[in-house]
Amino acid sequence: MRHSTLRQLEVFEAIARLKSFTRAAEELFLTQPTVSMQIKKLTDEIGLPLFEQVGKKIYLTDAGQELYRTCLGIFEHFSHFEMVASNMKGLKSGKLKLAVVTTAKYFTPRLLGMFCQQYPGIDISLQVTNRERVLERMADNRDDLYILGQVPKEVDAVAQAFLENPLVVLASVNHPLAQKKKITPKRITEEPFISREPGSGTRMATERFFSDKGLRLKIRMELGSNEAIKQAIIGGLGISVLSRHTLALDAPTGQLVVLDVQGFPIDRHWYYAYPSGKQLSIVAQTFLEYLQQAPQLLVDISCHYANIGHCPLLPDGNKESFCNRL
Ligand code: PGA
Repeated sequence: MRHSTLRQLEVFEAIARLKSFTRAAEELFLTQPTVSMQIKKLTDEIGLPLFEQVGKKIYLTDAGQELYRTCLGIFEHFSHFEMVASNMKGLKSGKLKLAVVTTAKYFTPRLLGMFCQQYPGIDISLQVTNRERVLERMADNRDDLYILGQVPKEVDAVAQAFLENPLVVLASVNHPLAQKKKITPKRITEEPFISREPGSGTRMATERFFSDKGLRLKIRMELGSNEAIKQAIIGGLGISVLSRHTLALDAPTGQLVVLDVQGFPIDRHWYYAYPSGKQLSIVAQTFLEYLQQAPQLLVDISCHYANIGHCPLLPDGNKESFCNRL
């Protein structure tokens, strides 16, 4: 058995799984005589037959079944070793440069925190700026990865959604519309509106929602920060549309309400993106895998630090809790 090669076990595993010498040969890009030769050598080494042929079908003998189980264990250990080795080569140290849109600051640092716990040797640089600036950085290829609220059309990029990003209408708890149900979008345009700055993705999506309906918002004030907008709403300066994620950090308890407006929340997503053709580093690839495999984790994190009973990010959050004081 000591003289059996990994190649022979690989050939054996393929035949056992595919129940065919021909298909195993095809899968491994080997000729059929080579496959037969490898199995003959393995069988001689073990001293017991591994397959039996009945008619045109092949079956595993008892020894064959035992070897098949052993092979699966060996290959699993090997793939684990490959991962560890690649971590040793590429992830022991390295740098991850991220640029994210303003609103993504509500969850990105938490995500990075958990990623860094897994890979403590990685240095992170995080740029937080609005959509327009993020797209400029992407066009200049200044970072490894980007997070933004809409697939970039301005830059030729690979983009993939990984988390929901609903936009909601926020008002002060004392606002006359706070208790109303099924408010029309037209009614919203009669209220003084506090908007994000030009270049903001939130602003773009909000303006598109209303202009698609032939409506125009009555903009009273423009502010470049979601937190400043929340304070302005609480101060009675107007209402606004922001990502529900903005409620997940230091929500000023009991002072803001999500209005029940027809057509809201606007369903958006968070996307990661990078310029097409970019060669991603091992660190960046690993972070992408981490993002893709962990949508539930992201929701859990958000719920956790929302520190309110109802998760503001769950797609089917019940209507009552939308209107509850946050
Ligand atoms: P913003 O982008 O923070 O620039 O508004 C957020 C988004 O595009 O959803």
